[in-house]
Amino acid sequence: MPTRVITFGTFDVFHVGHVNILTRAHDLGDHLTVGISTDELNFSKKGRYPIYRQEHRLEIVRSLDCVSEVFYEHSLDLKREYLLEHRADILVMGDDWKGRFDEFGDICEVVYLPRTADISTTDIIQAIREAEL
Ligand code: CTP
Repeated sequence: MPTRVITFGTFDVFHVGHVNILTRAHDLGDHLTVGISTDELNFSKKGRYPIYRQEHRLEIVRSLDCVSEVFYEHSLDLKREYLLEHRADILVMGDDWKGRFDEFGDICEVVYLPRTADISTTDIIQAIREAEL
């Protein structure tokens, strides 16, 4: 049976930290599914809309060789349903989420991978804002 890996994120202003986590997640199994946070979910979590709209963020992630399947994550409260629906064997998250998903250890393995140092969407947006001043 192929090992099915799943991960979630916004993947706004796509950068090398996103590439790294997706390639490492893919290397843990045979099939990688990625849940892309919708624009509305992002607004409810972070109080702002992403720079790239959800259709574009989904297309960028879908285009990667390491990604087998993508879907929209509409609600954080549906995590368990998404894991079951996509038959996840392994849930991968960046270690900024460490411990937060341990409750799903009853239905899949939960793995936290170290974040890539010194890069984030928030920092990139901030750097562009400062460059414009
Ligand atoms: N990620 C990572 N290394 C980074 C940035 C992100 O491994 N330097 C991982 C996160 O841990 C998450 C996934 O990429 O599992 C998607 O993260 P996302 O929140 O979309 O990206 P960030 O750049 O962290 O965005 P923000 O700064 O808006 O939080």
